[in-house]
Amino acid sequence: MEKWIDEAFERAAEKFARGAKLAARQGIIPYKSEGGHYVPSPFDGNSWWTGGFWPGIMWQLYHATGGKVYMDEALRAEEMLAHELMTFDLLNHDVGFMYLLSTGAHYRLTGDKTAHTNTMHAATLLAGRFNPAGFIRAWPQRERAGYAIIDCMMNLSLLYWASEQSGDPRFAKIARIHADTAIREFLREDGSSCHIVIFDPETGEALERPGGQGYCAGSSWSRGQAWALYGFTLSGINSGDSKYIDVARRCARYFIAHIREDGLTDSDFCQPKDEERIDNIAGACAACGLLDLADVVGGEEGEEYRAAALRLLRALYDLCADWSENTPGILQKCTASYHDDGAGRHVNILYGDYFFVEALCKLRGTDARLWMAR
Ligand code: GLY
Repeated sequence: MEKWIDEAFERAAEKFARGAKLAARQGIIPYKSEGGHYVPSPFDGNSWWTGGFWPGIMWQLYHATGGKVYMDEALRAEEMLAHELMTFDLLNHDVGFMYLLSTGAHYRLTGDKTAHTNTMHAATLLAGRFNPAGFIRAWPQRERAGYAIIDCMMNLSLLYWASEQSGDPRFAKIARIHADTAIREFLREDGSSCHIVIFDPETGEALERPGGQGYCAGSSWSRGQAWALYGFTLSGINSGDSKYIDVARRCARYFIAHIREDGLTDSDFCQPKDEERIDNIAGACAACGLLDLADVVGGEEGEEYRAAALRLLRALYDLCADWSENTPGILQKCTASYHDDGAGRHVNILYGDYFFVEALCKLRGTDARLWMAR
C-alpha cells in the first residue's frame, strides 16, 4: 500500500478525534465547517438528508481504530436522528443515507437492538414512499408526488438490508423495481445520468427531466453520476444481479472519461469551460464506488477502476485536503449544487469527508461496509 494512504488515514483519525469533542461541545450534527467550528445543516434541522454522514465518519473510525471517542460521538448524534423518526414530516427518501450510517452502523457494529428497530423503522418509511407506478417518490411536498432522483440509488441499500434482516422480500423487490426504472428513465446512451425525472404519479410515464442540482437540463451533474456509479454497484452486490453491475460499468466509464487533468471533479461534466466549479464530494463518492466495482469485476478491468479511484483520492489528498487546525473539516472545494442554493459552494462539507474516509478505509481493508445488505 502506498504510504500516503496510511498518512491520510492517521491524519483523518486525529482530526476527527478532536472534531468529535468539538461537535459535542457545539451540540450539533455537523454539516460543514467554517473557520474553526462546525455548522449545522442549512435546512430542515436534524431531518436534513445529510445527518447520517457525521455518525458515519465516527463509526468508520471506530471500526478501524476501536477509539471510544468516535463511538461516544456517533451515539450522541444518533440520539438526535432517532428523534427525527418521530417527527416524520420533513423526512424523505434520504432516510437511507440518514439511518444506514447511524442506527444501521450502530447495529452492524455492536448488535444493539434499539438501533436495529430504528433502522427497520427507517426502511419501512422508505418502502412507504414507493409508488406502484414504478418508482420511489423523493420528496414529500404535494406538488412533487411524481419526483424521483438518481440519488435514491444509494438509499436502496436500506431496503436490501431490511429484506435480509426480516426475511420479507417486499423491501428488495421495491428496490429492484426502482432500480429498473432508473436504468430505463435516468440513464442515457453515453452512460451519463440525469438528476431528476418527473413522472406522472398515476401512470408512471416520464414527463420531464429538469436540470436539478446540475448546470442545466440535459447536462451531467457529477455527484449525480457518482450516486449512479456507486448506487448501481451496490444494487448489483446487494441483489446479486449482474445487470446492475453492467450499468455501473457504463456509469464508471463515463465518470472516468470526465475526470479533470488535475484529478479533481467538476461540479457538472457539461459546465462551461471557463467556469471553475469543483465538487470534491463527487470525486470521493465515485472513488468508493470504483473500489467496490473493481472488487466485483476483478481482472484488468478491475485494475482500471482501482487506478481511477486512486487517482481521484490522491488528487484530493494532494490538492484539497486541509490538515491544519484552522478548520475541523478536511476536503475543501465541495459544492452542494451547481447553482448555489445556500448549501455551500467551494467549502468543506462533511459528507465529502465521509466518502474520503470510507475510501481510505476500503484501501486499508477496514471498511465497515455500511451500505451492504449483509
Ligand atoms: N442528495 C442530494 C445531494 O446530493 O445533494
